[in-house]
Amino acid sequence: MTKAGPKLSPVISILNMKGGVGKTTISAHVFRHLYIRLGKSTLLVDIDPQFNLTQTIIPQVLYEKHKQARRTIQAVMEPAPTASIFTVTTGLGPPPDVDEVSVGLRHITSDKSINLSVIPGDFGLVKYSLITDQAVLTPVRDRFLKFISETRAKRDLICIDCNPSSSFLTLCALMASTHILVPVRPDRYSILGLDLLEQFINELPNLVPKPKLIVLLNGVPTRGYDPTVENSLRAHPRFGPVTLSTVLHTTKLLEASPGYTGFATDKKQQWRITPRISAVVDELGTHLGLS
Ligand SMILES: Nc1ncnc2c1ncn2[C@@H]1O[C@H](COP(=O)(O)OP(=O)(O)OP(=O)(O)O)[C@@H](O)[C@H]1O
Ligand SMILES: [Mg+2]
Repeated sequence: MTKAGPKLSPVISILNMKGGVGKTTISAHVFRHLYIRLGKSTLLVDIDPQFNLTQTIIPQVLYEKHKQARRTIQAVMEPAPTASIFTVTTGLGPPPDVDEVSVGLRHITSDKSINLSVIPGDFGLVKYSLITDQAVLTPVRDRFLKFISETRAKRDLICIDCNPSSSFLTLCALMASTHILVPVRPDRYSILGLDLLEQFINELPNLVPKPKLIVLLNGVPTRGYDPTVENSLRAHPRFGPVTLSTVLHTTKLLEASPGYTGFATDKKQQWRITPRISAVVDELGTHLGLS
């Protein structure tokens, strides 16, 4: 579509095995802003079976239509539904083209060749955590990896919103990624999640080269904040240097609400949050070699 040149685009997974740290919030609101601010064609991939990212940005009625048309992540994994949720299609064949399975979101930049699109999530992905024989799942993983690899030539950035576990899907995302963005809340347990993730990545034998970690503090209170955890994170020999200097505060503007489908930076009070998201985007752009 819009990608030119021989350099393959970065693939960033938003991942922390700890739940509720802001993976989906960041996937939606930060990366939509990156698309506008850096002018990069960006593909969001909702790989979480709970598909919260999709629900954040696509109204339900529209989603139902896309699901009917098999325009979801499930079609990347397998060409057609299987009769049983305990089986995988045999002879999977080549993956689809990104344009067959993604949904374009409204153009914001004046340059129409730069676009933002999403591959909607699908609850059907739950089946991959029910199938315990990893050998059965290997062709599915390979099809996903081939899809991502082909799409890297067609978009400037691919961003994968992951589910909070160390499942088959996490592994797919890790193997496809050049970078991992780890949101952490400023509490001790979130930091433990970071340790665990690093260990997991280091111990995965097939992960060559290993994706680079980037850490983003999310949910920092604006009042009565105790910076002890943040200070120890910034002093950490490995995590400190890769922790973005900009943090995201707790704010109503980033809070998901059932009555609102869309992006934080489009809200009435967006001026309260946009400069900070811009600062995160600028730092991310440098890490990803995009700016
Ligand atoms: N900076 C923030 N300010 C206010 N609310 C936030 C912020 N970040 C996240 N939230 C809220 O916290 C909840 C969890 O966030 P989110 O869904 O992004 O986390 P997650 O890591 O994707 O969760 P899961 O592990 O379930 O996928 C959501 O209700 C979201 O709206
Ligand atoms: Mg999520």
